[in-house]
Amino acid sequence: MKKLYLFLFASFSSVSVGQAQQPVRESQGFYQFLTEDPNQKPFYSDRQGVIANNGMVASAHPDASQVGVDILKKGGNAVDAAVAVQFALAVVHPSAGNIGGGGFMVFRDASGKSYTLDFREMAPRRSHKDMYLDKQGNPVPGLSTLGHLASGVPGSVDGMAAAHARFGKLPWRDLIQPAIDLAERGVVQTEREARGLNNIRESMQKVNPGGSYFLRPDGREWKAGDTLVQEDLARVLRLIQKKGRDGFYKGKVARMLASEMKRGGGLITTKDLKAYQSKWREPIIGTYKNYKVITMPPTSSGGVALMQLLRLVEPYPITRWGWNADSTTQVMIEAERRVYADRAKFLGDPDFVDVPVDKLISYEYLRERWKSFSFAQATDSREVSGGAIAGYESLETTHFSVVDKDQNAVAITTTLNGGYGSRVVVQGGGFFMNNEMDDFSIKPGVPNMFGLIGNKANAIEPGKRMLSSMTPTILEKDGKLYMVVGTPGGSTIITAVYQTILNVVEHGMTMQQAVNALKFHHQWLPDKTTFEQGAFADNTIRKLQNRGYTLEMQRNSIGRMDCILVRPDGSLEGGSDPRGDNVSMGY
Ligand code: DON
Repeated sequence: MKKLYLFLFASFSSVSVGQAQQPVRESQGFYQFLTEDPNQKPFYSDRQGVIANNGMVASAHPDASQVGVDILKKGGNAVDAAVAVQFALAVVHPSAGNIGGGGFMVFRDASGKSYTLDFREMAPRRSHKDMYLDKQGNPVPGLSTLGHLASGVPGSVDGMAAAHARFGKLPWRDLIQPAIDLAERGVVQTEREARGLNNIRESMQKVNPGGSYFLRPDGREWKAGDTLVQEDLARVLRLIQKKGRDGFYKGKVARMLASEMKRGGGLITTKDLKAYQSKWREPIIGTYKNYKVITMPPTSSGGVALMQLLRLVEPYPITRWGWNADSTTQVMIEAERRVYADRAKFLGDPDFVDVPVDKLISYEYLRERWKSFSFAQATDSREVSGGAIAGYESLETTHFSVVDKDQNAVAITTTLNGGYGSRVVVQGGGFFMNNEMDDFSIKPGVPNMFGLIGNKANAIEPGKRMLSSMTPTILEKDGKLYMVVGTPGGSTIITAVYQTILNVVEHGMTMQQAVNALKFHHQWLPDKTTFEQGAFADNTIRKLQNRGYTLEMQRNSIGRMDCILVRPDGSLEGGSDPRGDNVSMGY
């Protein structure tokens, strides 16, 4: 159904500063967004959500979503489907789906118990804190992002095996088979995928002198409609299918991976692989108004940051102020500034550093953090804490959400870090290795590829996991499953998840609208707010600029969300991002 946008003048009594618009409202089956500014558009597109009653899979690729739904239909639960989707994504979405990377899973079972699994990569045993610095102590450009030295010990296969061993219902082999079929039969490339592979040709050639099937054998560029067959990957998947995690971390694949590392000067050895272990961790569970938020604890910073962000805006009437109105935006930016400063200072692998999680998300601490805020003027990031400035790079991670017929729910965000990771393809194995080591703070105050800075808490140490921003999250309302959310986007993951949640719970959007809605981002340093074109009314931009905010329209979009909402009648709405090839499928 076509959306109806009404451009009306809205005038309301202001709270402490004025506002220009009203939230999205449902009226006679149409959602109307009331704004006085034709330059503002609330949504990236008018894509509609997918509705189903029995189960839903929202992922970055139609073939992967299909695999997940097939598993659900066969009687698999949400964890079974998630495992199958993770392996399918490794085949159909090689820029981010992976077996050579890592990630995080949040799982809420039908009875309401929740669990989180950390399958983040670990620093190899031979790594050390200054490994990316030259003799003068300066970072060597590219060393932590391109090539063999950039990789941490992968965690995805161990994570999936651990999730399946604890909660899976269907046999392991059935969950790997669809990925094997896709790798053998070949995947038809979308325009976006073809472009992605063409864009990394040079760097792939540089770090893979032996070539790989990600480069077309005839040397030509990939086009939409071409088929990518991955026989080596199929063989690796067969070993994983037969031997479980040992099929990857021991034996032939482990030896292949270690010799690839040796050839290119990487650090990962067979010993590192054998020693890798994913880890169940206590979820962060907190309330925001009458919602229960279940999210990822460190080694991701995402859950802590999300809880802080939600609780920082909780005292403010943002529903009344309106979606992306100046006051709403201002308190959200100021919350983000403070939270990313905390991230840089306090967060790291809890197995190595003490992270004061409870304190950071406590109302008392957060009240304290607001003391330096005034509506009259933007807070200066330098006064919140010190740091440096950097830009963005090409982004790729992937998130998927699954809900089964019993309303078990899984949120997984998984990544190679940058698009196609380190660009290293394991010879004979046919899969990309991550460049996750760049998520460590390679030198105090030096920004990573997302412009995030850190210090000792996130310094490299053997066996340590690098800090992440991934924020797979599940919300409960009145004791029942309510929402499953997550996205890629590096440092913008946290703020995109934050906005998507608020879009639904405060601004009355559907799941798909909350995903479609245009987004903005602030991360303390650099001290600027980036936004998708159209996200703000001209008037809002002017007001914020007058209060000292630097606003920068971004060419790239923010987020590739894959989310599921439980509707009041118990049906499910899948919301997948029109900014990518993402698709929700239900049954
Ligand atoms: O763990 C992290 O925070 C990053 N490695 C995520 C990278 C990412 O989201 C890239 N893509 N969009």
